[in-house]
Amino acid sequence: MTVTSEPATLRGIAAAARGRRLRRSPALRALVRETRLHPAMLVQPLFVRAGHEVREEIGAMPGQFRLSADRLASEADRLRRGGVRSVLLFGLPRTKDAEGSGAWADDGIVQQAVRELRAADPELAIIADVCLCEYTSHGHCGVLRGEVVDNDATLELLARTAVSQAAAGADIVAPSAMMDGQVAVIRAALDGAGHAETAILAYAAKHASAFYGPFREAADSAPTFGDRKSYQLDPANGREALREVDRDLAEGADMVMIKPALPALDLIAAARARTTAPIAAYQVSGEYASLVAAAERGWLDRRAVALESLTAIARAGADVIVTYFAAEAGAWLREEAVR
Ligand code: PBG
Repeated sequence: MTVTSEPATLRGIAAAARGRRLRRSPALRALVRETRLHPAMLVQPLFVRAGHEVREEIGAMPGQFRLSADRLASEADRLRRGGVRSVLLFGLPRTKDAEGSGAWADDGIVQQAVRELRAADPELAIIADVCLCEYTSHGHCGVLRGEVVDNDATLELLARTAVSQAAAGADIVAPSAMMDGQVAVIRAALDGAGHAETAILAYAAKHASAFYGPFREAADSAPTFGDRKSYQLDPANGREALREVDRDLAEGADMVMIKPALPALDLIAAARARTTAPIAAYQVSGEYASLVAAAERGWLDRRAVALESLTAIARAGADVIVTYFAAEAGAWLREEAVR
């Protein structure tokens, strides 16, 4: 038997193929890391409700709270300490009606929250979600004609909502109702009302996803009948999702969002290859809840899976990530940066 200087298993492997050379130490790995999360790319969703000094934990989203407007300043403070510069606001109105009129009331819950946050932190980037489902008695994202959500009648109400949010001081409005033409109508209404500087983040590719379950508990927005499949996208459709991205950009969206995030990494990557506009991804309530639940059972490491999933979303091509982990992840990332 011949003795060789090389183990048999490595015979024939080219010298250049030794990938482990650059994985040997933390410094080498950090040197060649391709994707780096930064707290400034994270957006924290906040649920705002009426009342005073309310901080109510959401059952299916441990660690997330419904806050009254007077608790927002301290929340903004916590975010700033973690380096997170942006929030996405959802409102729970005191009362609901068939049209969802609470969405565009000047003293509506989100409008109040925007003013409160603007006063507390003038530098915060404030995004307001534009949809009717939290405000309608039937829980659908638009007004009804019989049992059908009336697309064109809804557009006017979404436009009113966006204008009132812009008037309150929102930097960005984010239409999520999935009505056709919503971006164009909102752009025209904002410009007409003197809010040409307010940006639009379009929920362009929003799938009818079962991962929104915990959100509907948080925002009390589950439809009382039927589902959202006649307006949200079929999760099976990727090309159609990209068509929505194209349309929203053509209608004047400044940024486009893909949602949910981890189940749609392919679409984040495809959208990234398609446009130079900023791309946002929304790691939704069910994505958060499933990781948190497994971590609570001791089955997953909360911090590790949160950061790994956020990194995967960024690697796929998202510039901006909306995530319920934002505040926490911001603090983790700051901690890692000083190590
Ligand atoms: C409003 C809206 C929803 C979400 C964001 N905006 C709920 C829905 O479409 O049912 C879901 C966010 C999440 O699950 O975290 N239409």
